[in-house]
Amino acid sequence: MIRQRRMNLAVVSLLALLAFSGCKPDSPATTGGGKPADGKKLVVGFSQIGAESSWRTAETNSIRGEAEKRKDKVELKFSDAQQKQEKQIEALQAFIAQGVNVIILAPVVKTGWDPVLKEAKQRNIPVILVDRGITVSDDSLYATLIAADFVAEGKQAAEWLAKKTGGKANVVELQGTPGADAAIERQKGFKDELAKHPGMKIIKSQDGDFKLAKGKEVMEAFLKDKDSKIDAVFAHNDDMALGAIQAIEDAGKVPGKDILVVSIDGVKGAFEAMVAGKLNCTIECNPLLGPAAFEAVEKLAAGKPVEKKVVVPGELFEQSKAKDAIGGRKY
Ligand code: AHR
Repeated sequence: MIRQRRMNLAVVSLLALLAFSGCKPDSPATTGGGKPADGKKLVVGFSQIGAESSWRTAETNSIRGEAEKRKDKVELKFSDAQQKQEKQIEALQAFIAQGVNVIILAPVVKTGWDPVLKEAKQRNIPVILVDRGITVSDDSLYATLIAADFVAEGKQAAEWLAKKTGGKANVVELQGTPGADAAIERQKGFKDELAKHPGMKIIKSQDGDFKLAKGKEVMEAFLKDKDSKIDAVFAHNDDMALGAIQAIEDAGKVPGKDILVVSIDGVKGAFEAMVAGKLNCTIECNPLLGPAAFEAVEKLAAGKPVEKKVVVPGELFEQSKAKDAIGGRKY
C-alpha cells in the first residue's frame, strides 16, 4: 500500500516536471498545442523570408491561398522579413505574444533559432518549418519540416553538366543567400558530385542572394576577367540564372551555347528561357507548399502526430522538354 502510494507520487512528480519544463512524454510532433479556443478561429502566424525571387512569391501565394480557402475557420497573420533574420525573430516574438495557435516559419538562415523557438515551445505553440531547414540544439523545437532535398538538387545539376560537357568544364557558381540551407546544401551536392570529375572545376563562386539583379551583377564581374574561360554557370536558383543570361548577352556571348546555364527551381521564366534556347536545364524545386503546410497545421491543432520531415519531390527539365512542359507549369 505504502509502496503503491510512493509510486503514484513519483509518477505525479515526473509529469509535473515534464509539464514545467515544457516537454511532453510523447514525441513533440504530437504536441496538443495549437488548438483554438471554442468558437474561435485558428490563428496561424506565417513568417516569410521576403520576396527575393519568383519562387518565393509563388510560395507566399500558395500559403496565403490555402489560408483563404479556410477563411471561415482560419486567420493568417503574415509577416515579410525582407531577408533579415532579426525581423523574422521579431515576427515570431510578436506571434507568440499574440498567442497564435500555430507558427509557419520559412527560415532565411540555418542557425540562430534556438532562443525564439524555445519561447514558442514554452507557450506550447507548434512551429512548422517550410522550404528551408535549420540546425537547433534540440529537434523538438519544431514540429515538422516540409522541404525539398537541396543536396540532391545540387548533385543532379552537376551530374547533368558532367554528362553534357563530357566531364570537362570551367564552371562559375552563383550562390544563394549566405547561411541559407538552400545555398549550403545545393553547393554541397554540386561540389561532391563535381569531385568525381577531375576535368571539371569551379573557377569562381560568389553569392547573388537568390536575386536576378544580383545574379546579373556577379556574372558581369565574372565575365570581365578575360584570363579565364567560362564554359558553364551553375546558379543556385533560376532568378540568378536569368540575371546571368542577361549579363552573358550583354557581353556579346550566346547563353545556352557559348556558356551553358543550369539552375534550380523550375519557375515559368526559366521555362521561357529554355524555350528561347538560353537556359539549358533547371531542376524543379516545388514552392507550392501551402497544401502540405495546412495539412500539418490542422493535424497539430487537432493534437494529431505529424511527420518530422516531408520531402517535396522535384523533376529535372532540359531544354528539349521545355516546350511541351511549359503549358502545364503552375508557377
Ligand atoms: O529556399 C528555396 C530558394 O529560395 C529558392 O530556390 C529560391 O528561388 C528562393 O529564393
